[in-house]
Amino acid sequence: MSARLQDKVTVITGIGSGMGRAAALLFAAEGARVVGCDIDPVACQATLEAIRARGGEAVGLPDCDPCDPGQARRLVEYAVNSFGGVDVVYNNAAVARMAWIEDMTCEMWSTTMRGELDIVFNLVKAAWPHLKQRGGGSIINCGSVSGKMAYEVLPALAHAAGKGGVIAMTRQLAMEGGTHGIRANSISPGLVRTGATAPLIDDANWFAPMKRKLMLNGRVGTPEDVAYCALYLASDESAWVTGADFAIDGGTTAW
Ligand SMILES: NC(=O)c1ccc[n+]([C@@H]2O[C@H](COP(=O)([O-])OP(=O)(O)OC[C@H]3O[C@@H](n4cnc5c(N)ncnc54)[C@H](O)[C@@H]3O)[C@@H](O)[C@H]2O)c1
Repeated sequence: MSARLQDKVTVITGIGSGMGRAAALLFAAEGARVVGCDIDPVACQATLEAIRARGGEAVGLPDCDPCDPGQARRLVEYAVNSFGGVDVVYNNAAVARMAWIEDMTCEMWSTTMRGELDIVFNLVKAAWPHLKQRGGGSIINCGSVSGKMAYEVLPALAHAAGKGGVIAMTRQLAMEGGTHGIRANSISPGLVRTGATAPLIDDANWFAPMKRKLMLNGRVGTPEDVAYCALYLASDESAWVTGADFAIDGGTTAW
């Protein structure tokens, strides 16, 4: 076990699967005190147990949805009560409804705004005074390629708006946080195989045009590809990095 995050209190949303789980395991292996949450209690618990089984330190709220401001505050208070403060906030979890504009309902639109924008605002708002009190910290927000360009096979109208908003919010947070030592960066993953995308990737018709956008011989990303970027941003190795968006996308946005 190395210690790139030794004793850093890291709040991560959506640790039950995919990139959130990968980050929680990696952060804990690097010495972080992980505070996780998910809306899937069984999956959340499984990640917490996997961390502890490997000798890591982790606590979590298995029924916490930071789309609700009160739940976001609850998560931050839980981190402060458990470990005395907050050093890193990783807004990984998101809820998106996918539909082409003709099928997109107002309800789907608002659910996505709440699940991609409110969720980030709520947690950052709750954690901000604690990050200030600590003399600084790192906010990592999950954007997406969809926040920067359109994929021909993805009905991503609301999702594109949400993730584009996350990338924009992150720049503003970086500017406002600078004087407090608070850094804010976004990671914009390309197509990563997780529970959310596996059925699509396994559909040859859907995947063919997506594959053409992946420079590295069509390789789809893994949750760990993204977690390593998050690890860098959570650590002091990125002390002079703020207001940036990291394309972890196999070259997708470069051609
Ligand atoms: N998979 C991709 O190709 C891809 C690409 C770009 C961006 N992203 C983004 O990456 C992030 C993680 O996606 P993933 O593919 O790992 O997803 P996933 O579905 O594999 O895992 C998401 C986890 O978050 C939990 N979750 C969902 N809503 C929640 C909420 N409101 N509160 C707490 N927990 C919640 C889920 O229960 C699940 O355990 C998301 O922000 C997503 O938009 C994914």
